Amino acid sequence: MIKHEQIEKNVGLLVILTVLVIIWGGLLEIVPLFFQKSTTTPVEGLKPYDAVRLSGRDIYIREGCYNCHSQMIRPFRAETERYGHYSVAGEFVYDHPFQWGSKRTGPDLHRVGARYSDEWHRVHLINPRDVVPESNMPAYAFLEKAPVDASRIEDKMRALRKVGVPYTDEEIAGARALLDGKSELDVLVAYLQGLGLEMKGAR
Ligand code: HEC
Repeated sequence: MIKHEQIEKNVGLLVILTVLVIIWGGLLEIVPLFFQKSTTTPVEGLKPYDAVRLSGRDIYIREGCYNCHSQMIRPFRAETERYGHYSVAGEFVYDHPFQWGSKRTGPDLHRVGARYSDEWHRVHLINPRDVVPESNMPAYAFLEKAPVDASRIEDKMRALRKVGVPYTDEEIAGARALLDGKSELDVLVAYLQGLGLEMKGAR
């Protein structure tokens, strides 16, 4: 039988046992989340991103919007008064990877969908100062001129299907047509306008 004292006096043993305890504790916390209904079942009304919103999401990631914006409303009064219902896990089941973020130079965007008009977003993204004079958000005017890259949309959707997003063959086959003639700005605005709608009115 190993005594506590022996463990404390033996650095190697102490390190090994400490690591084992951390791994065990970590697994106990993480593994159940893969099987819990509340984290794996989509909230009512949640649909996988269509080709347009999925492409917009890729622009959001490429431009690093998550460096200044979180998409995770915490369950505190100050947050829910400002943004709406706090975020729940079931809203993110089709997000690979999720865009929760933690840095908030700008406001949380999880429930920004339908808060403004498409036109407001276009003007704001082209030059934030035109609608919010004190804004320090960068201007993304170039997105308006850039046609969206549709060349790999089917591959992306197929890859997402492998990790559980239920795209149908028809949705994948029709993806390219949806992106036809769209700019990167169009798809980014579509992505923003769909954010957090499923639980927007929830209390
Ligand atoms: C350097 C930090 C920074 C980056 C990067 C950034 N933003 Fe912002 N964003 C802000 C700030 C600050 C505000 C608040 C002032 C304003 O509305 O412009 C804001 C506001 C917003 C709003 C309005 C939110 C609301 O509820 O009023 C949207 C939408 C938005 N940003 C989208 C984006 C998108 C999309 C990107 C990436 C293309 C992006 N932001 C990149 C700082 C940033």
